[in-house]
Amino acid sequence: MKRLIVAANWKMNKNVPESIVFTERLSKNLLNLRRTDIILCPPYTSLFNIGEILNKTDIYLGAQNMYFEASGAYTGEISADMLKSTSCQYVILGHSERRHIFNESDDLIHKKLAAALETGLKPILCIGETLEERQSGRTVNILKKQYVAAFRNLSESQMRNCIIAYEPVWAIGTGIVATPEQASEAHKEIRSLVASQFSYKMATEMAILYGGSVKPENAAELIATDDIDGFLIGGASLVEEQFVSIADTVEDYLAKQEK
Ligand code: 13P
Repeated sequence: MKRLIVAANWKMNKNVPESIVFTERLSKNLLNLRRTDIILCPPYTSLFNIGEILNKTDIYLGAQNMYFEASGAYTGEISADMLKSTSCQYVILGHSERRHIFNESDDLIHKKLAAALETGLKPILCIGETLEERQSGRTVNILKKQYVAAFRNLSESQMRNCIIAYEPVWAIGTGIVATPEQASEAHKEIRSLVASQFSYKMATEMAILYGGSVKPENAAELIATDDIDGFLIGGASLVEEQFVSIADTVEDYLAKQEK
């Protein structure tokens, strides 16, 4: 059975001591998950320490961003190799906050994706439409534009190391969650893009996560939705009980499917 993924994007929250205390407690509460992959993406400053804690567990470590150059005069930037040296396995790329607040272009995101793969990091590539784009009927076009720009020229073996996160911008941090129908429709659209670039098999195997106001209250309904392979969680990943509850919901769903 396909494993599902629950990833935490802490964004710019928790300093180093706070991250350590949180992760030590959290990791103990996630010990019993056998079918669900957990990925924690803390800020850069906590990566090394959190990596040391997670190395003793089955939980994966991810970063929230990186730069595409390998090294050099890029003040303030972090390379893929630097991330790997903290025991990071994943990196979130193309998050809507990077696209909209920091003006990251599709082209820049593609370069980052290529560099991450080259270095052996697994990208979690985010795509999603704004409210205005949805209301003007452009959701499918936007998803296609962002997908094609990011994944162009990738080989099958590179694509196998990628995860896609559908994060409608209007649902991020707003408390407005996409309905299961809206999420399923978008995920199906993304899967068909993967199928036409690669194959139906690749599209079926591809992990497509949903992100945007995922909470313990809506996790069960969403995870039972066709085509949703897990979650990328912001706000609720900062609260231990909420994150554990969502992870347990996903694990319970898989356990029931197994029977
Ligand atoms: P929220 O869960 O806070 O809506 O954030 C989603 C997100 O942006 C995860 O990357």
